[in-house]
Amino acid sequence: MSTELINKARQILQTNDLGGYTVPTQSMYPYQWNWDSVFVALGFATFDQNRAWLEIENLFESQWEDGFVPHIIFRKDEPSYFPGPNIWVAGDSLPTSGISNPPVASSIIKRIWDSCDHDENIDRLKSIFPKLVAWHRWFHTFRDPLNNGLVLTTHPWETGRDNSPEWTIPCEAIDISNVSPFTRLDTSHVDSSMRPTDEEYKAYITLVEFGRDHNWDHDHIAKHNPFRMLDVGMSMILLRANRDLLSLAEFLGEQDIVDELNQQIALSEKGIDYLWDDSSNTFCSYDLIAGKHSGFISSASFLAFYAGAGSDEQHQQLLENLKNIEQETDFLMPSFAPGQDGFDTMRYWRGPVWAVVNYMILNGLAESGYQDWADRIASDTKSLVELSGFHEAFSPYKGTGTGGDNFSWTAAIYLALSNLTNT
Ligand code: GLC
Repeated sequence: MSTELINKARQILQTNDLGGYTVPTQSMYPYQWNWDSVFVALGFATFDQNRAWLEIENLFESQWEDGFVPHIIFRKDEPSYFPGPNIWVAGDSLPTSGISNPPVASSIIKRIWDSCDHDENIDRLKSIFPKLVAWHRWFHTFRDPLNNGLVLTTHPWETGRDNSPEWTIPCEAIDISNVSPFTRLDTSHVDSSMRPTDEEYKAYITLVEFGRDHNWDHDHIAKHNPFRMLDVGMSMILLRANRDLLSLAEFLGEQDIVDELNQQIALSEKGIDYLWDDSSNTFCSYDLIAGKHSGFISSASFLAFYAGAGSDEQHQQLLENLKNIEQETDFLMPSFAPGQDGFDTMRYWRGPVWAVVNYMILNGLAESGYQDWADRIASDTKSLVELSGFHEAFSPYKGTGTGGDNFSWTAAIYLALSNLTNT
């Protein structure tokens, strides 16, 4: 690892720190994003424990009374971003978006807790713990329509894999004819070849307007939204987060919550099979409206290892898929497997590599005994940064940076990986 890059990574976090919360990158994403912040905390934890806790504590300031934690927190109005708070019209104590994000917080808190001074931080753990429980319960209550422990998503942006081809067909089925006129701002920050098309964007805004017009009534939205997918990524991440929250609950002696989480974990372990698609031999998302699997191999398919989900046979098949992808690319893990409809080396979530997803995949592979693959993904992640800098994402071929630059979560993962190497 290069000391110069470690210093640069720290500097990016410090520059993007707007006072207790960190923006993903300046101007293009000028607010606090949920899962970005959690990964940012992991980066801060490598050199400033206090600042790491603070990032997550500030994120949970936005939690709604029913446990929901939004995907963006609008602490002030920033004209460089669309759609802003006046479009979402959501929030409890703070203005926020009305959709959530992959619940990585419990897993990262557990990591931070495991490596910090317990006497110094026990009060912080005790204070964040019920908030984490409430957020997980929100998913279990509002987002488990089949009662099988899988996560329903109502907006592609909620999944964090905003423009994955997994959402293309379901989004094409949405009636976009009544969307209010708007001006995109994302394409003024980065080249439009890296961003969603106008038609896709209209579907995304239609979904925002649907939620807003129903006053962000999550019960109603979960039943009637024109986009209802069981998301492979969020389902795997929640299962893993439940395991990590369980271990925190055991540590704190919260027996009722231990029991509740054990039941929830058993439900998801069984339920995950619903996301296995025999025709494409992978875990993938499932469209509840059309009644079918997406049939696509994406980076989220490989989160099965991280979740501790799937049979031995399914794992062998995933490793087979991984080998094929490795032969076709220069850098792992493309967000979408090459050769499938919709693959694109530079466009959002249609091919580029994201460091945060790599981090989860490599941890899962290492824990499942596939250390060689884990090492390969860790080394590719570091090489991408060394080659192209702290971009938002990278082409899986030449490693060219895509999206925004000086990106917080890329810096955070570089720090986390360098920390692993040093210990
Ligand atoms: C993009 C990504 C999403 C991320 C956000 C801020 O919208 O798709 O995953 O949270 O940028 O970095």
